[in-house]
Amino acid sequence: MSYLEITNMEISFPTPKGKYIAVKDINLSIAKGEIVSIIGHSGCGKSTIMNAIGGMLLPTGGTVILNDKKIKAPGPDRGIVFQNYSLLPWLSVYQNIFQAVDAVMTCSKSEKHVIVENNLKMVNLYDHKNKLPGQLSGGMKQRVAIARAFAINPSVLLLDEPFGALDALTKGTMHLELLKLWNLDNREKTIIMVTHDIEEAIFLSDRIIVMNDGPSATIREIENVHIPRPRNKLDIVNSSEYKAIRDRLLHLLTDKFSVEDLGIKYKN
Ligand SMILES: Nc1ncnc2c1ncn2[C@@H]1O[C@H](COP(=O)(O)OP(=O)(O)O)[C@@H](O)[C@H]1O
Ligand SMILES: [Mg+2]
Repeated sequence: MSYLEITNMEISFPTPKGKYIAVKDINLSIAKGEIVSIIGHSGCGKSTIMNAIGGMLLPTGGTVILNDKKIKAPGPDRGIVFQNYSLLPWLSVYQNIFQAVDAVMTCSKSEKHVIVENNLKMVNLYDHKNKLPGQLSGGMKQRVAIARAFAINPSVLLLDEPFGALDALTKGTMHLELLKLWNLDNREKTIIMVTHDIEEAIFLSDRIIVMNDGPSATIREIENVHIPRPRNKLDIVNSSEYKAIRDRLLHLLTDKFSVEDLGIKYKN
């Protein structure tokens, strides 16, 4: 059995109009140390799948097994960056990260402070450590959430659109930091990431899961990215492998949209 094994998973929600099936027939085996991206249109159930792996949501059908154990609740083996950052608004940047480290790590207080400081420096927020989340921009909040997830050094990192609010330069830096963290840990950390960014998905991933649209969304296709590591962004964009995957993803994700679909009528 793989490290993470999702079998026949279905997740539905009760709604006033009856049962809403968000995702179904999800079968996925992920190896330890793999980097996998999930990509698909808004509302296709990407966050729902992440929440099931995180243990915040129990599937209504099928199973999610991590390291031979059925996932029933969140745990310190999984670090999560939520789509909406979910920082505690009454705690400073520093305290938001320290609280997570303190809850999970067993080292001394002074070691915990070193971990928090190192991770704050990694995301370039050390000078903002005493601010409250309400005093930060979206991109800064996102970086606090990333530092918090990295700081607890989990064996599985679940990242739900973690770099979406970042400018291109910061995003590039965070990609390298993520890979650095993965390399430091002998590439044993398993990383599952939701993204809308095709180039980001190819640069980072071993595999890319492309979802169908919902309701009752299923996995449409899985792309393997065989580009050797370490990858250099400037070099890989010219490789035929990169271009083939990019074109395939563009085709899968944009084939539905045309000017006609938008209902726009042009006069001759
Ligand atoms: N708690 C909930 N109750 C009812 N419907 C939900 C709930 N959570 C998610 N959904 C629905 O499930 C679908 C998938 O949502 P989500 O996983 O957030 O999509 P994505 O992350 O791909 O944009 C959406 O149609 C959403 O409205
Ligand atoms: Mg989402």
